[in-house]
Amino acid sequence: MDLLIHKLMNLVLPPIIFVALCISIPPYLFLKFFYSILRTFSMEDMAGKVVLVTGASSGIGEQLVYEYARRGARLVLVARRKNLLEEVAKKARGFGSTDVLVVCGDVTKVEDCKRFIEEAVNHFGCLDHLVNNAGITNICPFEDVTNILNFSSMMDVNFWGSIYATHFAIPHLLKSKGRIVVIASPSAWLLAPRLTFYGASKAALINFFESLRVELDPRVAITIASPGVTESEMTQGKHLSKEGVMQVDKETVNLLIGTFPVFGAELLAKRIVNGVCRGERSITEPFYYGAVYLWKVFCPEIIHWFFLWIHAIKPMKRQGMIVTGRGKILDVDHYATTATTPITK
Ligand SMILES: NC(=O)c1ccc[n+]([C@@H]2O[C@H](COP(=O)([O-])OP(=O)(O)OC[C@H]3O[C@@H](n4cnc5c(N)ncnc54)[C@H](OP(=O)(O)O)[C@@H]3O)[C@@H](O)[C@H]2O)c1
Repeated sequence: MDLLIHKLMNLVLPPIIFVALCISIPPYLFLKFFYSILRTFSMEDMAGKVVLVTGASSGIGEQLVYEYARRGARLVLVARRKNLLEEVAKKARGFGSTDVLVVCGDVTKVEDCKRFIEEAVNHFGCLDHLVNNAGITNICPFEDVTNILNFSSMMDVNFWGSIYATHFAIPHLLKSKGRIVVIASPSAWLLAPRLTFYGASKAALINFFESLRVELDPRVAITIASPGVTESEMTQGKHLSKEGVMQVDKETVNLLIGTFPVFGAELLAKRIVNGVCRGERSITEPFYYGAVYLWKVFCPEIIHWFFLWIHAIKPMKRQGMIVTGRGKILDVDHYATTATTPITK
């Protein structure tokens, strides 16, 4: 009997769903557009609000700090390299933040996450935004991995690091009717050859926070941002090698992203904080990555062939330099000196 019902559903449901989708998409898109216009008139004012950013010592996290600072937010900066955090804090004060607290911490350690949330609330008395940004990447074909156990750190930082911090922040965010911002990645849904652990950790992150959004709605809001390839220590070559060792290697990163245009971190941060203040649920930047998602859903084989082709063509070699999306040229050797050192400059 059950088999018969399944057979009937297989026959009837797909065409019904398809027709319902065709009918509902135009009004849905219109309402979404209308609502997004309304939201531009009710942007969240960040002046005086308390924002905690993990992974604030470099790259996207550092630029998010500056963008929040320009809007007058009070800030808590978390990462492991204290010297870099102090430099970022100094600049953030220059950009307009009235109070910046630096707290060294490792997001993979649950006691550190508890401590930095407590220190933030003890210092400021509240917490308005938690920005889960800290992350690492791996670059290597899965079959080259020498010791599989060395890659559990990918989930420890990219997934558990955000979950621990969120767990301790929620009571305070409930009080302030605050917001959680999650820095995910299109690698979560696009194919991620050579970034298999990275893509999987980001997919887990998105799934967790999309479910949590339902549990917390409307008391705490959640914005999930998925940036494309963006200038940072990561795109300067910092990654876990096939041995599971953190290293900076420009050649390997060029092999992977040499074919993709690199987005400026400052512009990305501006767009993310804008979207966050507008109350967006998800932000994909650059926007065209969203269009690629349609290909992934409707024609997954074409995306598969595209990546086969990408990996077959010769990588572009730009020894010692990476050209950013804004045409700026960065000296990667500057990053190599600090990036592999976890604690201090
Ligand atoms: N760059 C891209 O193309 C791109 C694209 C999509 C998404 N993302 C995501 O954006 C986020 C920021 O990365 P990024 O590109 O800006 O790279 P990045 O420059 O390497 O920054 C990573 C940040 O995470 C911190 N971090 C790493 N492990 C940590 C740990 N165990 N505990 C605390 N902090 C830790 C680092 O600080 P310390 O080393 O000082 O601890 C650093 O501040 C990541 O989640 C990444 O996955 C990046």
